[in-house]
Amino acid sequence: MRVVVLASGRGSNLEALIEAQRCGELPIRIVGVLSDKATARALDLARNHDIAAIHIDPRTFADRAAFDAALFSRITELEPELIVLAGFMRILTPQAIQPWLGRIINIHPSLLPLYPGLHTHRRALEAGDSRHGASVHFVTAELDGGPVIARTVIDVLADDSEESLALRLLAKEHHLLCSCVGLIASGQIGWSDGAATSNDPALTLPLQIDDEF
Ligand code: GRF
Repeated sequence: MRVVVLASGRGSNLEALIEAQRCGELPIRIVGVLSDKATARALDLARNHDIAAIHIDPRTFADRAAFDAALFSRITELEPELIVLAGFMRILTPQAIQPWLGRIINIHPSLLPLYPGLHTHRRALEAGDSRHGASVHFVTAELDGGPVIARTVIDVLADDSEESLALRLLAKEHHLLCSCVGLIASGQIGWSDGAATSNDPALTLPLQIDDEF
């Protein structure tokens, strides 16, 4: 399965996908990484693995729609079967998403539908939650609001800070994302009529995926 990854920063989820591809654990080929940030480590990771690394600078476009048009034009050239948002920090316009519905997923660091948007770890701590986690979902026009494919869950510890919670969750995110990409690549999870679907009666969506990668 041809995969394009969009990332704005560190790229640790991209790194997990690259590693899983390299080890033959995922039947995917990452054919491009696109970023809105020239200095994103994700772009360096792509270059180091001979993957097309494309920076598109939002400041050179009149508005969000023009940026998205340029972004998706480059994506289309790469002919992906799946687009993975892995720490891509820009909101996409519904017009840009529409042709790709069912073929774009995002990883979000909360137990969706809890805490769409930013500062999810802080919000979980402030709410006194005993559990926190991350979700992979199909992207729709609603921010962090598309159908959830799978979640991973961790306990919140009494002495957790935003940083400790984020760090502990990140290792689980990598496994969650790789698992979801694998399920989509193998055809076990798909998209139909605006919903995530499974062709395996044993799989009840959303899945809970909790092993470390
Ligand atoms: C992850 O926490 C992901 O859930 C969120 O952004 C972060 C990206 O981390 N959407 P990385 O760039 O993959 O290391």
